[in-house]
Amino acid sequence: MNPTTEPDLGTPASPLEETVTIEIDGLPATVKAGSTIMRAARESGVDVPKLCATDSMKPFGSCRLCVVEIEGRNGYPASCTTPVEEGMKIRTQTDSLARLRRNVMELYISDHPLDCLTCSANGDCELQDMAGAVGLREVRYGFDGENHLDAEIDTSNPYFSFDPSKCIVCSRCVRACDEVQGTFALTIEGRGFDAKVSAGIGENFLDSECVSCGACIQACPTATLMEKSIIDNGQPEHSVLTTCAYCGVGCSFKADMKGDQVVRMTPYKDGQANQGHSCVKGRFAWGYSTHKERVLAPMIRESIDDPWREVGWEEAIDYTATRFKEIQEKYGRKSIGGITSSRCTNEEVYVVQKLVRAAFGNNNVDTCARVCHSPTGYGLKQTLGTSAGTQPFESVMDADVIVIIGANPTVGHPVFASQMKRRLRQGAKLIVIDPRKIDMVRTPHIKADYHLPLLPGTNVPVINAFAHVIVSEDLCDEEYVSERCDQDSFAAWKECMLKPENAPEAVAEISGVPAEDIRNAARMYAGADRGAIYYGLGVTEHSQGSTMVMGMANLAMATGNIGFSGCGVNPLRGQNNVQGSCDMGSFPHELPGYRPVQDDAIRGIFEKNWGVEIDPEPGYRIPNMFDAAIAGEYKGMYIQGEDIAQSDPNTQHVEAALGNMECIVVQDLFLNETAKFAHVFLPGTSFLEKDGTFINAERRINRVRPVMKPRQGMAEWQITQNLARALGYPMNYSKEAEIMDEIATLTPTFGGVSFDFLDEVGSVQWPCNESAPMGTPIMHVDHFVRGKGLFIETDYVPTEERTNRKFPLLLTTGRTLTQYNVGAQTRRTPNVVWYKEDLLEIHPHDAELRGVNEGDRVSLASRKGDITLTAIITERVQPGVVYTTFHDPETGANVVTTEYSDWATSCPEYKVTAVQVAPAVHRSKWQHQFDERASKQGKILETS
Ligand code: SF4
Ligand code: SF4
Ligand code: SF4
Ligand code: FES
Repeated sequence: MNPTTEPDLGTPASPLEETVTIEIDGLPATVKAGSTIMRAARESGVDVPKLCATDSMKPFGSCRLCVVEIEGRNGYPASCTTPVEEGMKIRTQTDSLARLRRNVMELYISDHPLDCLTCSANGDCELQDMAGAVGLREVRYGFDGENHLDAEIDTSNPYFSFDPSKCIVCSRCVRACDEVQGTFALTIEGRGFDAKVSAGIGENFLDSECVSCGACIQACPTATLMEKSIIDNGQPEHSVLTTCAYCGVGCSFKADMKGDQVVRMTPYKDGQANQGHSCVKGRFAWGYSTHKERVLAPMIRESIDDPWREVGWEEAIDYTATRFKEIQEKYGRKSIGGITSSRCTNEEVYVVQKLVRAAFGNNNVDTCARVCHSPTGYGLKQTLGTSAGTQPFESVMDADVIVIIGANPTVGHPVFASQMKRRLRQGAKLIVIDPRKIDMVRTPHIKADYHLPLLPGTNVPVINAFAHVIVSEDLCDEEYVSERCDQDSFAAWKECMLKPENAPEAVAEISGVPAEDIRNAARMYAGADRGAIYYGLGVTEHSQGSTMVMGMANLAMATGNIGFSGCGVNPLRGQNNVQGSCDMGSFPHELPGYRPVQDDAIRGIFEKNWGVEIDPEPGYRIPNMFDAAIAGEYKGMYIQGEDIAQSDPNTQHVEAALGNMECIVVQDLFLNETAKFAHVFLPGTSFLEKDGTFINAERRINRVRPVMKPRQGMAEWQITQNLARALGYPMNYSKEAEIMDEIATLTPTFGGVSFDFLDEVGSVQWPCNESAPMGTPIMHVDHFVRGKGLFIETDYVPTEERTNRKFPLLLTTGRTLTQYNVGAQTRRTPNVVWYKEDLLEIHPHDAELRGVNEGDRVSLASRKGDITLTAIITERVQPGVVYTTFHDPETGANVVTTEYSDWATSCPEYKVTAVQVAPAVHRSKWQHQFDERASKQGKILETS
């Protein structure tokens, strides 16, 4: 067995607690009741041969290699499908069993190429292992008869190949796709000798429904389904356990290595967030870390029209410090600031916010969470008392009713979506509240009980209508509320929700959702024994994002759906470390742990530890930074891993702000759009070079471990530390673990966290401290963190962004499965085979009205600007609504979005923009400017 292969106990663990005592090969064993004989034997150290069984899937019983003898029973039962019974006496090794197993193996091998020595799976092939285990020495049948040895190899997928000549038709791949991933892309076509795995009739993998999650490759016991990276590089020699750097699921991976080269990422079976599963991004799209466009040397320039000049680290940092000091002398202490990145580790983020507060001497620090989940922090803190989701992912397996609001889990959080789909296939009910028909509305073996296709911008009236139904029909859990919630606020909320404007009939007119559907869906949620809400940026990125978060929390409290498994209000976080970057004190008004910077006592704790006075006044939020830059008051910015020129709304406003600044420092992997406005470029590190922690959407603190040294020569926290020193503030960490130790000292919810502790337990969900030494999977168990749960009235205030005759459609934005955020990483991987450009989805009715055909270039115009892109005509969107993604800088999707934002947190309203669509006559003015800037930068780079 390859040293990187994890043990396989054959069948899943029994969920039962009771035990039974059995005898295996003459030795007594006490095992869990409900275990299969195979699992019991393997747990007792006896390896029964197997091929079709694996512990991540239900037993199947097809290969007959695992047969055993049971005293008092006739025949040879399959150990993978036979449960243990008290007193059972089992023999796994007898002459008859050996003969039977050899016969089975002989049949398999007689139709299998005998090229073990040159096969890419050599040393990591279960068929090879089993041939050895059963003592197969000769094959009597030869290759003269019919066989599959010449079957054509399917290499269409960029990451793996399918070689049917090596297939033993064990169905593990088919079952992995069904049971683990839930895509049902594979079938076994034909019977007997003709049986073969198929990804769709006459289709190759690339053209099939396959989403390249890799579960089938992991399940395949032979070299049939095999990563191309292994075929090219050979088998790995060792592994490093780390965490995916894409979405907020936070999947654990083994980086399988050959020397210092990653040859495969294998999802880790004991990973608490992903339990051995992955998606196409985490498993395959890691090649960007060695992409040729990655910048590996620091660069500086006086003006953004100058060529870049490569310099050493010392010069780059001294240059930055000098320019920042000059700016502060000229424009004042508050004229510079920084942005932390949700893609970076907690330790990297923590030192950046400390740099701003301790070395810049102000609180002008913000993070990209500003533009995604800041309303989550605000809304959940106000109502429940803590700025985070309430549940672990596995809690969904106890939910009876699942409500998805403004999230697209199969695309944004695919591994969690697979788990959710498992629960739905077991019978949980599903309500989807989304303007689009997302996959979860109808996907193999799942059909939402209700899809409420509301108009963008009408979340709040719809959630209020839910509340109206629940209050008016006496569906509140009065006992729960009276025990755990603030009574006055509950009474006021009920009164507010009963207003006629919140009745489903009134809301139907605003939202476009039939009143009866709202009523029935509300009853379904309220009637659930366990009702769980999952939501995403379709909730938060609105002018009433915080109101909606509070509306969902109100609803969950009113129905008694917080504090247990299977319930809760759960934000699906976009980036890998959004939770962490917020926890680390990246907001201008809050120190680490969400503690107000204006509070003298809190500030005193940090001042004592940091040895510096902290400004008591909150600093600029990101939009305020842009406004202040345009006003000429904000002149310098340190931007860690964030491409604000592409990701923030109203691109032309952002560009005007950036163009008005005197020293922009970009710390990133690639020269992104923001770098076009930068004066200093400090190369950053990819996750494969980082040592630290990420925190996922379930508050789980996961370790990120380096598999190689920083390719540009310096860890990111060291860059920040050196800049702090050059500015005169002594920052003196010698390693990442010391930063986490300081975080633990200063942040009560992290009191028990250290690298050593995480290495010992794997991962932990905060709060983790003296009161919860092993962490806190479910929040608000006996009482709310704030004491009594607070109901907050959620009156609907429509966005100021309105449709009219000139802009009659509503644009909403989102992402695709294979791309991530601004695409900086994923566009530099083979994932581009599934994504060529951002497309505009338009309903057939709206397309016909405008004379738009499938594949036409169209102009998308709003009050802020216009762009051109390619249209696809689909009923996924409803009439009146169009949709696009924002992965490609050339598209410039955010040129059209507005700067309307959430009233409480300034989170931009990306999800509602009034637009017009028309056949495109020419490329837009902004896109011409983009082309000019790209060509100018190209020339600058040539001369750099
Ligand atoms: S890669 Fe995933 S989706 Fe594709 S066939 Fe395999 S299991 Fe199914
Ligand atoms: S491709 Fe692999 S897992 Fe699938 S049936 Fe063939 S041998 Fe089994
Ligand atoms: S689900 Fe998210 S964390 Fe998991 S592998 Fe995919 S991108 Fe990475
Ligand atoms: S492993 Fe039991 S029948 Fe295949």
